[in-house]
Amino acid sequence: MCGIIAYLGTRPAKEVLLAGLAKLEYRGYDSAGLCFSDKNGLLSFKAVGPVKNLVKTIEGNDKYSLGIAHTRWATHGEPSEINAHPHFDCQHKIAIVHNGIIENHNALKEMLIKEGHKFVSATDSEVIAHLIEKFDEGNLESAFIKAINLLQGSFAVVAIQAGSRRLLATRRSSPLIIGVGKEEFFIASDVPAVLAYTNQVIYLQDNDFVSIDDSGYKIKTLAGKEIKRELEGVQMNLEEIEKGGFKHFMLKEIMEQPITLAQTIAGRVVNDKIKISLQIIPGSFDRIVMAACGTSWHSALIGKYLIEEIAGVRVEVDYASEFRYRQPLISSRDIFLAISQSGETADTLAALREAKAGGAQTAALVNIVGSTLAREVDSGIYLHAGPEIGVASTKAFSSQIAGLLIFALYLRQLSGASLDKGLLMELKNLPKAVEAVLAGADKIASLAQQFKKTNNFLFLGRGLNFPVALEGALKLKEISYIHAEGYPAAEIKHGPIALIDEDMPVLFIATKNLLSDKILSNMAEVKARQGKIIAVVDRDFQDIAALADHLLVVPSVHPLLAPIINNIPLQLLAYYIADARGLDVDRPRNLAKSVTVE
Ligand code: F6R
Repeated sequence: MCGIIAYLGTRPAKEVLLAGLAKLEYRGYDSAGLCFSDKNGLLSFKAVGPVKNLVKTIEGNDKYSLGIAHTRWATHGEPSEINAHPHFDCQHKIAIVHNGIIENHNALKEMLIKEGHKFVSATDSEVIAHLIEKFDEGNLESAFIKAINLLQGSFAVVAIQAGSRRLLATRRSSPLIIGVGKEEFFIASDVPAVLAYTNQVIYLQDNDFVSIDDSGYKIKTLAGKEIKRELEGVQMNLEEIEKGGFKHFMLKEIMEQPITLAQTIAGRVVNDKIKISLQIIPGSFDRIVMAACGTSWHSALIGKYLIEEIAGVRVEVDYASEFRYRQPLISSRDIFLAISQSGETADTLAALREAKAGGAQTAALVNIVGSTLAREVDSGIYLHAGPEIGVASTKAFSSQIAGLLIFALYLRQLSGASLDKGLLMELKNLPKAVEAVLAGADKIASLAQQFKKTNNFLFLGRGLNFPVALEGALKLKEISYIHAEGYPAAEIKHGPIALIDEDMPVLFIATKNLLSDKILSNMAEVKARQGKIIAVVDRDFQDIAALADHLLVVPSVHPLLAPIINNIPLQLLAYYIADARGLDVDRPRNLAKSVTVE
Protein backbone atom coordinates (compact mmCIF):
# COMPACT_ATOMS: atom_id res chain seq x y z
CA MET A 1 0.00 0.00 0.00
CA CYS A 2 2.70 2.58 0.98
CA GLY A 3 2.28 6.33 1.55
CA ILE A 4 3.74 9.17 -0.52
CA ILE A 5 4.16 12.86 0.31
CA ALA A 6 6.04 15.46 -1.72
CA TYR A 7 6.49 19.20 -1.17
CA LEU A 8 7.58 22.27 -3.12
CA GLY A 9 7.16 25.66 -1.43
CA THR A 10 8.64 28.07 1.05
CA ARG A 11 8.58 26.17 4.36
CA PRO A 12 11.25 23.71 5.48
CA ALA A 13 10.37 20.59 3.48
CA LYS A 14 11.53 18.44 6.39
CA GLU A 15 8.69 19.59 8.62
CA VAL A 16 6.02 18.99 5.95
CA LEU A 17 7.35 15.61 4.82
CA LEU A 18 7.73 14.13 8.30
CA ALA A 19 4.32 15.35 9.44
CA GLY A 20 2.79 13.99 6.23
CA LEU A 21 4.46 10.61 6.62
CA ALA A 22 3.13 10.31 10.16
CA LYS A 23 -0.40 10.77 8.82
CA LEU A 24 0.17 8.11 6.17
CA GLU A 25 1.57 5.44 8.45
CA TYR A 26 -1.69 3.49 8.38
CA ARG A 27 -0.69 2.64 4.78
CA GLY A 28 2.45 0.85 5.90
CA TYR A 29 5.21 1.32 8.41
CA ASP A 30 8.01 -1.15 7.79
CA SER A 31 10.47 1.52 6.64
CA ALA A 32 10.47 5.17 5.61
CA GLY A 33 12.68 7.55 3.70
CA LEU A 34 12.89 10.99 2.15
CA CYS A 35 15.00 12.99 -0.26
CA PHE A 36 15.60 16.76 -0.38
CA SER A 37 16.76 18.58 -3.46
CA ASP A 38 18.43 21.94 -4.09
CA LYS A 39 20.85 23.38 -6.63
CA ASN A 40 23.69 21.33 -5.14
CA GLY A 41 22.03 17.94 -5.60
CA LEU A 42 20.00 15.33 -3.72
CA LEU A 43 20.24 14.44 -0.04
CA SER A 44 18.41 11.35 1.25
CA PHE A 45 17.68 9.64 4.58
CA LYS A 46 16.18 6.20 5.22
CA ALA A 47 15.31 4.12 8.26
CA VAL A 48 13.77 0.71 8.91
CA GLY A 49 10.60 0.69 11.01
CA PRO A 50 8.08 3.45 11.67
CA VAL A 51 8.46 7.11 10.73
CA LYS A 52 9.73 8.02 14.20
CA ASN A 53 12.92 6.08 13.38
CA LEU A 54 13.43 8.27 10.32
CA VAL A 55 12.87 11.44 12.36
CA LYS A 56 15.83 10.47 14.59
CA THR A 57 18.19 10.28 11.58
CA ILE A 58 17.54 13.84 10.35
CA GLU A 59 19.18 16.53 12.44
CA GLY A 60 19.02 20.07 11.05
CA ASN A 61 18.59 20.15 7.28
CA ASP A 62 15.95 22.84 7.54
CA LYS A 63 17.19 24.81 4.52
CA TYR A 64 15.53 22.56 1.91
CA SER A 65 12.14 23.57 0.56
CA LEU A 66 11.61 20.74 -1.94
CA GLY A 67 11.50 17.01 -1.27
CA ILE A 68 9.76 13.65 -1.61
CA ALA A 69 9.06 11.07 1.09
CA HIS A 70 7.61 7.59 1.47
CA THR A 71 6.44 5.17 4.15
CA ARG A 72 6.60 1.59 2.96
CA TRP A 73 4.48 -1.52 3.24
CA ALA A 74 6.83 -4.01 1.63
CA THR A 75 5.72 -6.09 -1.32
CA HIS A 76 8.92 -6.80 -3.25
CA GLY A 77 11.99 -7.09 -1.08
CA GLU A 78 12.16 -7.28 2.69
CA PRO A 79 11.90 -4.19 4.87
CA SER A 80 15.44 -2.76 4.91
CA GLU A 81 17.18 0.56 4.32
CA ILE A 82 18.24 -0.53 0.84
CA ASN A 83 14.66 -1.39 -0.12
CA ALA A 84 13.18 1.73 1.52
CA HIS A 85 12.22 4.56 -0.84
CA PRO A 86 13.28 6.91 -2.42
CA HIS A 87 15.05 4.93 -5.15
CA PHE A 88 17.66 6.40 -7.45
CA ASP A 89 19.16 6.09 -10.92
CA CYS A 90 22.81 5.05 -11.39
CA GLN A 91 24.13 8.59 -11.13
CA HIS A 92 22.04 9.53 -8.09
CA LYS A 93 20.52 12.42 -10.05
CA ILE A 94 16.92 11.17 -10.16
CA ALA A 95 14.91 10.13 -7.11
CA ILE A 96 11.49 8.50 -7.12
CA VAL A 97 8.90 7.30 -4.62
CA HIS A 98 6.35 4.69 -5.69
CA ASN A 99 3.19 3.11 -4.34
CA GLY A 100 1.80 0.01 -6.08
CA ILE A 101 3.22 -2.97 -7.91
CA ILE A 102 5.10 -2.85 -11.22
CA GLU A 103 4.07 -6.20 -12.66
CA ASN A 104 6.56 -6.22 -15.53
CA HIS A 105 9.53 -5.10 -13.41
CA ASN A 106 11.48 -8.32 -14.06
CA ALA A 107 11.45 -7.83 -17.82
CA LEU A 108 12.27 -4.12 -17.49
CA LYS A 109 15.08 -4.80 -15.05
CA GLU A 110 16.58 -7.44 -17.34
CA MET A 111 16.52 -4.98 -20.25
CA LEU A 112 18.08 -2.19 -18.16
CA ILE A 113 20.81 -4.45 -16.75
CA LYS A 114 21.74 -5.46 -20.31
CA GLU A 115 22.08 -1.74 -21.06
CA GLY A 116 24.48 -1.32 -18.15
CA HIS A 117 22.20 -0.12 -15.33
CA LYS A 118 23.15 -1.27 -11.84
CA PHE A 119 20.41 -2.02 -9.32
CA VAL A 120 20.89 -1.92 -5.59
CA SER A 121 17.50 -2.91 -4.15
CA ALA A 122 15.20 -5.92 -4.44
CA THR A 123 12.19 -3.70 -5.16
CA ASP A 124 10.05 -3.48 -8.25
CA SER A 125 10.10 0.34 -7.85
CA GLU A 126 13.77 0.94 -8.62
CA VAL A 127 13.22 0.27 -12.33
CA ILE A 128 11.29 3.56 -12.56
CA ALA A 129 14.32 5.70 -11.66
CA HIS A 130 16.51 3.78 -14.12
CA LEU A 131 13.94 4.06 -16.90
CA ILE A 132 13.77 7.85 -16.44
CA GLU A 133 17.57 7.94 -16.57
CA LYS A 134 17.55 5.83 -19.75
CA PHE A 135 15.24 8.27 -21.52
CA ASP A 136 16.71 11.50 -20.11
CA GLU A 137 18.20 13.59 -22.90
CA GLY A 138 17.86 16.92 -21.10
CA ASN A 139 14.05 17.00 -20.86
CA LEU A 140 12.93 15.39 -17.59
CA GLU A 141 9.20 15.59 -18.40
CA SER A 142 9.55 13.71 -21.63
CA ALA A 143 11.84 11.09 -20.01
CA PHE A 144 9.35 10.62 -17.18
CA ILE A 145 6.43 10.09 -19.58
CA LYS A 146 8.41 7.66 -21.73
CA ALA A 147 9.32 5.68 -18.62
CA ILE A 148 5.77 5.59 -17.27
CA ASN A 149 4.42 4.43 -20.60
CA LEU A 150 6.48 1.25 -20.25
CA LEU A 151 5.06 0.32 -16.84
CA GLN A 152 2.40 -2.33 -16.28
CA GLY A 153 0.58 -2.71 -12.99
CA SER A 154 -0.57 -0.20 -10.42
CA PHE A 155 1.39 2.86 -9.42
CA ALA A 156 1.49 6.33 -7.97
CA VAL A 157 4.91 7.85 -8.64
CA VAL A 158 6.60 11.14 -7.80
CA ALA A 159 10.04 12.00 -9.24
CA ILE A 160 12.57 14.78 -8.71
CA GLN A 161 15.89 15.59 -10.35
CA ALA A 162 19.02 17.06 -8.80
CA GLY A 163 19.32 20.78 -9.47
CA SER A 164 15.74 21.18 -10.71
CA ARG A 165 12.90 22.83 -8.71
CA ARG A 166 10.19 20.58 -10.14
CA LEU A 167 7.97 17.72 -8.98
CA LEU A 168 6.66 15.23 -11.55
CA ALA A 169 3.93 12.74 -10.74
CA THR A 170 1.43 10.30 -12.20
CA ARG A 171 -0.94 7.58 -11.05
CA ARG A 172 -2.68 4.41 -12.26
CA SER A 173 -4.92 2.42 -9.87
CA SER A 174 -3.15 3.92 -6.85
CA PRO A 175 -4.39 7.13 -5.24
CA LEU A 176 -2.65 10.47 -5.52
CA ILE A 177 -3.80 14.00 -4.73
CA ILE A 178 -2.35 17.47 -5.17
CA GLY A 179 -2.66 19.93 -2.28
CA VAL A 180 -2.59 23.58 -3.29
CA GLY A 181 -1.53 26.21 -0.74
CA LYS A 182 -0.28 29.81 -0.98
CA GLU A 183 2.99 29.62 -2.94
CA GLU A 184 3.30 25.96 -1.98
CA PHE A 185 2.24 22.61 -3.43
CA PHE A 186 1.91 19.11 -2.04
CA ILE A 187 1.49 15.68 -3.64
CA ALA A 188 0.25 12.86 -1.44
CA SER A 189 -1.36 9.43 -1.35
CA ASP A 190 -4.15 10.71 0.82
CA VAL A 191 -5.59 13.99 2.07
CA PRO A 192 -4.60 13.67 5.77
CA ALA A 193 -0.97 14.13 4.78
CA VAL A 194 -1.63 17.72 3.63
CA LEU A 195 -4.62 18.76 5.69
CA ALA A 196 -2.54 20.59 8.27
CA TYR A 197 -1.46 23.00 5.51
CA THR A 198 -4.33 23.22 3.04
CA ASN A 199 -7.83 21.88 2.46
CA GLN A 200 -7.70 22.70 -1.27
CA VAL A 201 -7.02 19.47 -3.14
CA ILE A 202 -7.21 17.92 -6.58
CA TYR A 203 -7.97 14.21 -6.82
CA LEU A 204 -5.88 12.97 -9.71
CA GLN A 205 -7.37 10.44 -12.13
CA ASP A 206 -5.68 7.42 -13.68
CA ASN A 207 -3.00 8.41 -16.23
CA ASP A 208 -2.98 12.09 -15.20
CA PHE A 209 0.52 13.53 -15.41
CA VAL A 210 1.42 16.49 -13.17
CA SER A 211 4.31 18.89 -13.35
CA ILE A 212 4.76 21.38 -10.50
CA ASP A 213 7.24 24.25 -10.16
CA ASP A 214 7.24 27.52 -8.21
CA SER A 215 4.90 29.14 -10.73
CA GLY A 216 2.16 26.52 -10.35
CA TYR A 217 0.96 23.11 -11.50
CA LYS A 218 0.05 21.71 -14.93
CA ILE A 219 -1.97 18.53 -15.42
CA LYS A 220 -1.76 16.68 -18.73
CA THR A 221 -2.63 13.26 -20.09
CA LEU A 222 0.31 10.95 -20.62
CA ALA A 223 -0.18 11.73 -24.31
CA GLY A 224 0.64 15.39 -23.55
CA LYS A 225 -2.86 16.95 -23.79
CA GLU A 226 -3.50 19.58 -21.11
CA ILE A 227 -6.50 18.85 -18.84
CA LYS A 228 -8.33 20.69 -16.06
CA ARG A 229 -9.15 19.00 -12.78
CA GLU A 230 -11.37 20.54 -10.16
CA LEU A 231 -9.81 22.10 -7.05
CA GLU A 232 -11.99 20.89 -4.18
CA GLY A 233 -12.36 22.16 -0.63
CA VAL A 234 -12.11 19.24 1.78
CA GLN A 235 -14.68 19.30 4.60
CA MET A 236 -13.97 16.09 6.49
CA ASN A 237 -12.05 15.78 9.72
CA LEU A 238 -8.70 13.99 9.76
CA GLU A 239 -9.88 10.71 11.21
CA GLU A 240 -12.68 10.29 8.70
CA ILE A 241 -10.37 10.86 5.80
CA GLU A 242 -7.85 8.33 6.98
CA LYS A 243 -10.64 5.86 6.59
CA GLY A 244 -11.14 7.08 3.03
CA GLY A 245 -14.57 8.47 3.96
CA PHE A 246 -15.76 5.15 5.44
CA LYS A 247 -17.18 5.08 8.95
CA HIS A 248 -14.89 2.24 9.98
CA PHE A 249 -11.71 0.60 8.72
CA MET A 250 -13.59 -2.70 8.61
CA LEU A 251 -16.08 -1.34 6.08
CA LYS A 252 -13.27 0.24 4.07
CA GLU A 253 -11.42 -3.08 4.02
CA ILE A 254 -14.54 -5.00 2.96
CA MET A 255 -15.08 -2.51 0.14
CA GLU A 256 -11.42 -2.69 -0.92
CA GLN A 257 -11.62 -6.38 -1.77
CA PRO A 258 -11.84 -6.04 -5.56
CA ILE A 259 -8.48 -4.26 -5.43
CA THR A 260 -6.82 -6.42 -2.80
CA LEU A 261 -7.87 -9.64 -4.54
CA ALA A 262 -6.52 -8.27 -7.82
CA GLN A 263 -3.22 -7.66 -5.99
CA THR A 264 -3.15 -11.23 -4.67
CA ILE A 265 -3.72 -12.66 -8.14
CA ALA A 266 -1.55 -10.18 -10.10
CA GLY A 267 1.35 -11.77 -11.94
CA ARG A 268 0.54 -15.27 -10.65
CA VAL A 269 -1.61 -16.54 -13.50
CA VAL A 270 0.41 -16.01 -16.65
CA ASN A 271 -0.37 -17.69 -20.00
CA ASP A 272 -2.55 -20.31 -18.27
CA LYS A 273 0.29 -21.23 -15.91
CA ILE A 274 0.78 -20.54 -12.21
CA LYS A 275 3.85 -18.46 -11.45
CA ILE A 276 4.89 -18.49 -7.81
CA SER A 277 8.33 -19.00 -6.37
CA LEU A 278 7.85 -21.80 -3.83
CA GLN A 279 10.81 -24.07 -3.22
CA ILE A 280 8.96 -27.38 -3.58
CA ILE A 281 10.48 -30.26 -5.51
CA PRO A 282 7.94 -32.37 -7.43
CA GLY A 283 7.54 -35.81 -5.85
CA SER A 284 9.20 -34.72 -2.60
CA PHE A 285 6.02 -34.78 -0.49
CA ASP A 286 3.04 -36.99 0.33
CA ARG A 287 0.78 -34.59 2.16
CA ILE A 288 0.18 -30.99 3.17
CA VAL A 289 -0.28 -30.16 6.84
CA MET A 290 -1.79 -26.76 7.57
CA ALA A 291 -2.01 -24.93 10.87
CA ALA A 292 -3.50 -21.53 11.65
CA CYS A 293 -5.73 -19.64 14.09
CA GLY A 294 -9.16 -18.02 13.89
CA THR A 295 -10.14 -16.71 10.48
CA SER A 296 -6.90 -18.03 9.00
CA TRP A 297 -7.88 -21.51 10.25
CA HIS A 298 -11.14 -21.18 8.32
CA SER A 299 -9.11 -20.40 5.20
CA ALA A 300 -7.08 -23.54 5.84
CA LEU A 301 -10.29 -25.61 5.95
CA ILE A 302 -11.28 -24.19 2.57
CA GLY A 303 -7.73 -24.89 1.38
CA LYS A 304 -8.17 -28.57 2.24
CA TYR A 305 -11.19 -28.85 -0.06
CA LEU A 306 -9.36 -26.94 -2.82
CA ILE A 307 -6.06 -28.83 -2.64
CA GLU A 308 -7.60 -32.29 -2.39
CA GLU A 309 -9.97 -31.62 -5.29
CA ILE A 310 -7.58 -29.74 -7.59
CA ALA A 311 -4.22 -31.37 -6.84
CA GLY A 312 -5.25 -34.75 -5.40
CA VAL A 313 -2.86 -34.29 -2.48
CA ARG A 314 -3.82 -35.35 1.05
CA VAL A 315 -4.32 -32.42 3.44
CA GLU A 316 -4.63 -32.18 7.20
CA VAL A 317 -5.71 -29.01 9.00
CA ASP A 318 -5.03 -28.19 12.64
CA TYR A 319 -5.59 -25.33 15.00
CA ALA A 320 -2.03 -24.12 15.53
CA SER A 321 -2.60 -24.07 19.30
CA GLU A 322 -3.53 -27.79 19.24
CA PHE A 323 -0.90 -28.86 16.75
CA ARG A 324 1.96 -27.45 18.78
CA TYR A 325 1.14 -29.53 21.86
CA ARG A 326 -0.20 -32.79 20.48
CA GLN A 327 3.07 -34.30 19.32
CA PRO A 328 1.99 -34.51 15.68
CA LEU A 329 3.51 -37.18 13.43
CA ILE A 330 5.55 -35.14 10.99
CA SER A 331 8.19 -36.23 8.50
CA SER A 332 10.33 -34.84 5.72
CA ARG A 333 7.65 -36.04 3.26
CA ASP A 334 5.26 -33.40 4.67
CA ILE A 335 4.85 -29.81 3.53
CA PHE A 336 3.80 -27.71 6.51
CA LEU A 337 1.84 -24.65 5.35
CA ALA A 338 1.23 -21.93 7.93
CA ILE A 339 -1.51 -19.38 7.21
CA SER A 340 -1.52 -16.00 8.89
CA GLN A 341 -2.46 -12.41 8.08
CA SER A 342 0.01 -10.87 10.52
CA GLY A 343 2.74 -13.50 10.39
CA GLU A 344 3.21 -12.85 14.11
CA THR A 345 0.60 -15.12 15.75
CA ALA A 346 2.39 -16.91 18.57
CA ASP A 347 0.66 -20.30 18.20
CA THR A 348 1.15 -20.37 14.45
CA LEU A 349 4.85 -19.60 14.86
CA ALA A 350 5.18 -22.31 17.51
CA ALA A 351 3.40 -24.82 15.22
CA LEU A 352 5.82 -23.92 12.45
CA ARG A 353 8.81 -24.55 14.70
CA GLU A 354 7.30 -27.89 15.78
CA ALA A 355 6.87 -28.91 12.12
CA LYS A 356 10.44 -27.83 11.34
CA ALA A 357 11.76 -29.89 14.22
CA GLY A 358 9.88 -32.87 12.75
CA GLY A 359 11.73 -32.38 9.47
CA ALA A 360 8.86 -31.00 7.37
CA GLN A 361 9.41 -28.70 4.40
CA THR A 362 7.81 -25.38 5.37
CA ALA A 363 5.85 -22.69 3.55
CA ALA A 364 3.56 -19.80 4.51
CA LEU A 365 0.65 -17.86 3.15
CA VAL A 366 1.12 -14.51 4.85
CA ASN A 367 0.15 -10.88 4.38
CA ILE A 368 2.82 -8.94 6.23
CA VAL A 369 6.07 -8.85 4.32
CA GLY A 370 9.11 -9.43 6.49
CA SER A 371 7.03 -10.78 9.41
CA THR A 372 8.54 -13.47 11.63
CA LEU A 373 6.60 -16.19 9.85
CA ALA A 374 7.74 -14.95 6.45
CA ARG A 375 11.33 -14.99 7.63
CA GLU A 376 11.23 -18.44 9.23
CA VAL A 377 9.68 -20.54 6.44
CA ASP A 378 11.59 -22.09 3.53
CA SER A 379 9.45 -20.15 1.05
CA GLY A 380 6.02 -18.58 0.84
CA ILE A 381 3.24 -16.73 -0.92
CA TYR A 382 2.53 -13.12 0.08
CA LEU A 383 -1.13 -12.07 0.01
CA HIS A 384 -0.45 -8.45 -1.05
CA ALA A 385 -3.76 -7.44 0.56
CA GLY A 386 -2.35 -4.26 2.08
CA PRO A 387 -2.39 -3.34 5.78
CA GLU A 388 -5.49 -4.64 7.55
CA ILE A 389 -6.30 -2.25 10.39
CA GLY A 390 -9.81 -3.37 11.46
CA VAL A 391 -9.37 -6.09 14.07
CA ALA A 392 -11.86 -8.39 12.36
CA SER A 393 -10.12 -9.92 9.36
CA THR A 394 -11.98 -9.44 6.07
CA LYS A 395 -9.86 -8.67 3.02
CA ALA A 396 -7.04 -10.93 4.26
CA PHE A 397 -9.48 -13.87 4.42
CA SER A 398 -10.53 -13.41 0.77
CA SER A 399 -6.90 -13.11 -0.27
CA GLN A 400 -5.98 -16.22 1.72
CA ILE A 401 -8.58 -18.26 -0.17
CA ALA A 402 -7.36 -16.86 -3.49
CA GLY A 403 -3.78 -17.68 -2.41
CA LEU A 404 -4.77 -21.22 -1.46
CA LEU A 405 -6.46 -21.73 -4.81
CA ILE A 406 -3.27 -20.55 -6.53
CA PHE A 407 -1.27 -22.92 -4.30
CA ALA A 408 -3.59 -25.84 -5.18
CA LEU A 409 -3.25 -25.08 -8.89
CA TYR A 410 0.52 -24.84 -8.47
CA LEU A 411 0.64 -28.31 -6.86
CA ARG A 412 -1.39 -29.70 -9.75
CA GLN A 413 0.97 -28.03 -12.22
CA LEU A 414 3.97 -29.54 -10.39
CA SER A 415 2.49 -33.01 -10.97
CA GLY A 416 2.44 -32.35 -14.71
CA ALA A 417 -1.39 -32.32 -14.97
CA SER A 418 -3.09 -29.63 -17.04
CA LEU A 419 -4.98 -26.72 -15.44
CA ASP A 420 -8.64 -25.85 -16.00
CA LYS A 421 -8.44 -22.77 -18.26
CA GLY A 422 -12.02 -21.79 -17.44
CA LEU A 423 -11.17 -21.68 -13.73
CA LEU A 424 -8.03 -19.60 -14.41
CA MET A 425 -10.06 -17.15 -16.45
CA GLU A 426 -12.71 -16.85 -13.72
CA LEU A 427 -10.00 -16.38 -11.11
CA LYS A 428 -8.66 -13.41 -13.05
CA ASN A 429 -12.19 -11.99 -13.33
CA LEU A 430 -12.96 -12.55 -9.66
CA PRO A 431 -12.53 -8.86 -8.64
CA LYS A 432 -15.43 -7.94 -10.97
CA ALA A 433 -17.71 -10.53 -9.33
CA VAL A 434 -16.73 -9.17 -5.90
CA GLU A 435 -17.65 -5.66 -7.06
CA ALA A 436 -21.09 -6.95 -8.01
CA VAL A 437 -21.64 -8.37 -4.49
CA LEU A 438 -20.49 -5.15 -2.84
CA ALA A 439 -22.97 -3.21 -4.94
CA GLY A 440 -25.71 -4.89 -2.86
CA ALA A 441 -24.39 -3.55 0.47
CA ASP A 442 -27.39 -1.25 1.08
CA LYS A 443 -29.82 -4.17 1.00
CA ILE A 444 -27.72 -5.98 3.61
CA ALA A 445 -27.58 -2.84 5.75
CA SER A 446 -31.39 -2.72 5.90
CA LEU A 447 -31.58 -6.46 6.63
CA ALA A 448 -29.19 -5.86 9.53
CA GLN A 449 -31.73 -3.50 11.10
CA GLN A 450 -34.17 -6.42 11.39
CA PHE A 451 -31.65 -8.65 13.17
CA LYS A 452 -29.78 -6.19 15.36
CA LYS A 453 -31.63 -7.26 18.51
CA THR A 454 -31.31 -11.02 18.07
CA ASN A 455 -29.34 -12.98 20.68
CA ASN A 456 -28.37 -16.01 18.59
CA PHE A 457 -27.57 -16.87 15.01
CA LEU A 458 -26.87 -20.12 13.21
CA PHE A 459 -24.79 -20.28 10.00
CA LEU A 460 -25.11 -23.44 7.88
CA GLY A 461 -23.34 -24.59 4.72
CA ARG A 462 -22.14 -27.76 3.04
CA GLY A 463 -18.93 -28.64 1.24
CA LEU A 464 -16.82 -25.56 0.60
CA ASN A 465 -19.60 -23.47 2.12
CA PHE A 466 -19.20 -25.11 5.53
CA PRO A 467 -16.01 -23.18 6.46
CA VAL A 468 -17.72 -20.07 5.08
CA ALA A 469 -20.48 -20.70 7.65
CA LEU A 470 -17.85 -20.94 10.40
CA GLU A 471 -16.28 -17.67 9.29
CA GLY A 472 -19.67 -15.92 9.05
CA ALA A 473 -20.43 -16.93 12.66
CA LEU A 474 -17.00 -15.82 13.89
CA LYS A 475 -17.29 -12.43 12.22
CA LEU A 476 -20.72 -11.81 13.72
CA LYS A 477 -19.84 -12.89 17.25
CA GLU A 478 -16.53 -11.03 17.49
CA ILE A 479 -17.84 -7.61 16.52
CA SER A 480 -21.55 -7.72 17.51
CA TYR A 481 -21.23 -9.94 20.63
CA ILE A 482 -24.22 -11.97 19.37
CA HIS A 483 -23.81 -15.67 20.06
CA ALA A 484 -23.35 -17.34 16.67
CA GLU A 485 -22.40 -20.83 15.57
CA GLY A 486 -21.41 -22.34 12.24
CA TYR A 487 -22.26 -25.92 11.36
CA PRO A 488 -22.23 -28.26 8.39
CA ALA A 489 -25.92 -28.08 7.43
CA ALA A 490 -26.48 -31.85 7.63
CA GLU A 491 -25.14 -31.96 11.18
CA ILE A 492 -27.95 -29.96 12.76
CA LYS A 493 -30.06 -33.12 12.99
CA HIS A 494 -27.48 -34.42 15.46
CA GLY A 495 -28.16 -31.78 18.07
CA PRO A 496 -28.39 -28.08 17.11
CA ILE A 497 -31.84 -28.48 15.53
CA ALA A 498 -33.14 -28.47 19.12
CA LEU A 499 -32.29 -24.74 19.22
CA ILE A 500 -34.55 -23.84 16.32
CA ASP A 501 -37.70 -21.84 16.94
CA GLU A 502 -39.20 -18.62 15.61
CA ASP A 503 -36.51 -16.56 17.39
CA MET A 504 -33.56 -18.32 15.76
CA PRO A 505 -32.27 -16.74 12.54
CA VAL A 506 -30.52 -19.35 10.37
CA LEU A 507 -28.28 -18.21 7.56
CA PHE A 508 -27.81 -20.83 4.83
CA ILE A 509 -25.00 -20.48 2.32
CA ALA A 510 -26.74 -22.24 -0.51
CA THR A 511 -25.10 -21.43 -3.81
CA LYS A 512 -25.18 -24.07 -6.50
CA ASN A 513 -22.84 -27.03 -6.10
CA LEU A 514 -23.08 -30.82 -5.96
CA LEU A 515 -24.87 -30.60 -2.60
CA SER A 516 -27.51 -28.04 -3.63
CA ASP A 517 -30.45 -30.46 -3.47
CA LYS A 518 -29.35 -31.73 -0.09
CA ILE A 519 -29.16 -28.24 1.39
CA LEU A 520 -32.74 -27.65 0.21
CA SER A 521 -33.82 -30.56 2.48
CA ASN A 522 -31.85 -29.07 5.39
CA MET A 523 -33.60 -25.77 4.81
CA ALA A 524 -37.00 -27.46 4.79
CA GLU A 525 -36.17 -29.02 8.17
CA VAL A 526 -35.48 -25.55 9.62
CA LYS A 527 -38.57 -24.05 8.00
CA ALA A 528 -40.74 -26.81 9.47
CA ARG A 529 -39.63 -25.63 12.92
CA GLN A 530 -40.38 -21.93 12.27
CA GLY A 531 -36.70 -20.88 12.01
CA LYS A 532 -36.15 -17.56 10.16
CA ILE A 533 -34.14 -18.33 7.03
CA ILE A 534 -31.70 -15.99 5.30
CA ALA A 535 -30.18 -17.63 2.23
CA VAL A 536 -27.12 -16.63 0.22
CA VAL A 537 -27.93 -17.90 -3.28
CA ASP A 538 -26.66 -17.40 -6.79
CA ARG A 539 -28.84 -16.59 -9.74
CA ASP A 540 -28.95 -20.23 -10.85
CA PHE A 541 -30.63 -21.30 -7.68
CA GLN A 542 -33.62 -19.05 -7.18
CA ASP A 543 -35.98 -21.96 -6.34
CA ILE A 544 -34.79 -21.61 -2.76
CA ALA A 545 -36.90 -18.45 -2.65
CA ALA A 546 -39.93 -20.50 -1.65
CA LEU A 547 -38.27 -21.55 1.60
CA ALA A 548 -36.26 -18.48 2.57
CA ASP A 549 -37.54 -15.38 4.39
CA HIS A 550 -34.69 -13.29 2.96
CA LEU A 551 -32.54 -13.89 -0.12
CA LEU A 552 -29.06 -12.47 -0.60
CA VAL A 553 -28.32 -13.04 -4.27
CA VAL A 554 -24.68 -13.24 -5.37
CA PRO A 555 -23.28 -13.75 -8.88
CA SER A 556 -22.78 -17.32 -10.11
CA VAL A 557 -19.11 -18.19 -10.23
CA HIS A 558 -17.05 -21.38 -10.54
CA PRO A 559 -17.90 -23.48 -7.42
CA LEU A 560 -14.25 -23.38 -6.31
CA LEU A 561 -14.37 -19.57 -6.22
CA ALA A 562 -17.75 -19.43 -4.48
CA PRO A 563 -16.35 -19.27 -0.89
CA ILE A 564 -14.82 -15.86 -1.62
CA ILE A 565 -18.01 -14.49 -3.13
CA ASN A 566 -20.35 -16.08 -0.57
CA ASN A 567 -18.40 -14.76 2.39
CA ILE A 568 -18.80 -11.11 1.42
CA PRO A 569 -22.52 -10.77 2.29
CA LEU A 570 -21.66 -12.37 5.65
CA GLN A 571 -18.93 -9.80 6.30
CA LEU A 572 -21.36 -7.00 5.45
CA LEU A 573 -24.13 -8.46 7.60
CA ALA A 574 -21.82 -8.76 10.61
CA TYR A 575 -20.53 -5.23 10.05
CA TYR A 576 -23.95 -3.61 9.69
CA ILE A 577 -25.45 -5.51 12.66
CA ALA A 578 -22.55 -4.48 14.92
CA ASP A 579 -22.79 -0.89 13.71
CA ALA A 580 -26.55 -0.87 14.23
CA ARG A 581 -25.91 -2.00 17.83
CA GLY A 582 -23.69 1.06 18.26
CA LEU A 583 -20.49 -0.92 18.86
CA ASP A 584 -16.86 0.01 18.20
CA VAL A 585 -16.52 -2.18 15.13
CA ASP A 586 -12.81 -1.61 14.57
CA ARG A 587 -11.82 -2.28 18.14
CA PRO A 588 -14.03 -5.07 19.48
CA ARG A 589 -13.73 -5.71 23.19
CA ASN A 590 -11.07 -8.13 24.47
CA LEU A 591 -9.42 -8.55 21.05
CA ALA A 592 -6.16 -7.50 19.46
CA LYS A 593 -5.18 -7.49 15.82
CA SER A 594 -2.04 -9.50 16.30
CA VAL A 595 -2.08 -12.27 18.91
CA THR A 596 1.55 -12.55 19.92
CA VAL A 597 0.94 -14.50 23.11
CA GLU A 598 -0.30 -18.07 23.26
C1 F6R B 1 -10.83 -12.78 13.29
C2 F6R B 1 -9.39 -12.64 13.26
C3 F6R B 1 -8.58 -13.62 14.02
C4 F6R B 1 -7.28 -13.93 13.27
C5 F6R B 1 -6.39 -14.80 14.13
C6 F6R B 1 -5.12 -15.20 13.42
O1 F6R B 1 -11.47 -11.80 12.53
O2 F6R B 1 -8.86 -11.73 12.69
O3 F6R B 1 -9.29 -14.78 14.26
O4 F6R B 1 -7.59 -14.57 12.07
O5 F6R B 1 -6.04 -14.10 15.29
O6 F6R B 1 -4.39 -14.08 13.05
P1 F6R B 1 -3.31 -14.17 11.90
O7 F6R B 1 -4.03 -14.47 10.63
O8 F6R B 1 -2.68 -12.82 11.91
O9 F6R B 1 -2.37 -15.26 12.28
